[in-house]
Amino acid sequence: MKPKVLVTRKIFKEALDLLKDHIEYEIGSREGELTKQDLLEKVRDKQGILSLLVDTIDRDVIDAAPKLKIIANCAVGYDNIDIDYVRKKGILVTNTPGVLTETTADLTWALILSVARRIPQADVFTREKMYLGWELDLYLGREVTGKCLGIIGMGRIGKAVASRARAFRMKVVYSDPHRLPKKEEVLYQASWLSLEDLLRTADIVTLHTSLTPETTHLISADRLRLMKKEAILVNVSRGPVVNELALAEALEQKIIWAAGLDVYEREPEIEERLLSLNNIVLLPHIGSATFETRIRMATMAAKNLVQGLSGKQPDNLV
Ligand code: DGY
Repeated sequence: MKPKVLVTRKIFKEALDLLKDHIEYEIGSREGELTKQDLLEKVRDKQGILSLLVDTIDRDVIDAAPKLKIIANCAVGYDNIDIDYVRKKGILVTNTPGVLTETTADLTWALILSVARRIPQADVFTREKMYLGWELDLYLGREVTGKCLGIIGMGRIGKAVASRARAFRMKVVYSDPHRLPKKEEVLYQASWLSLEDLLRTADIVTLHTSLTPETTHLISADRLRLMKKEAILVNVSRGPVVNELALAEALEQKIIWAAGLDVYEREPEIEERLLSLNNIVLLPHIGSATFETRIRMATMAAKNLVQGLSGKQPDNLV
């Protein structure tokens, strides 16, 4: 008999094709909406779950699935899963590292440039036929070339962002509890700074940490006050790393110049005060959203699931 798996929401055919020979799968929701009650009912007889980052896999869900052996998360982050409880229960968890690194670094740069050069605002201005003629001070932004980039969290994505900074002849500083070996610091032309010194030094600060109790509200009101008045803050990691209310205040009071967010504290909710500001660019969590990458993520999650349920060690065990 094939093991039973819950694929929480609709995923790409390429991933389902990988599952179908080995696994009997049920798709939790094709429309995107999956209530907690639905989830609790659907996991009851399942040995595996292929989850997305919007699925909260907490104790209730785990307790409701007595046969559960593996959760294959279709994301590199896995803060949607109660990892300590899962470990206690001996359930495997996998993620999708590596395949989204370059795509997320590209989006980070798209966001940095959009914020610095006010591209979304200028686009709206032009569409609304407000462009009546060239002006010396129309839509002035901030220069990126030659400035100092501060990377908080120097994992795979942080490093990919650093590599791209070379094209802009930027000075790169980074902060991470794990300092890179000298060889890598030379490779990425990046110098380590304490978090506080980085915030004081960088013209553009970009966040690439995972979400843990230590990184929740890492960017607080006090830390925003350390930043330069002309500085830009970009977050493509996890929303709760930034205190959204404190950021809204900092942008309103011009404590920093501008910000770009791809992620939010209580997704998909967004702090109301941010929505009315014109010195912020807001994106709907699309860091890894290219056709190629999202298909790679889904097939990687499917492969991990099949490996785990056939008694092999999955490639991407957390
Ligand atoms: C992840 O994988 O954790 C991203 O947030 C979505 O690609």
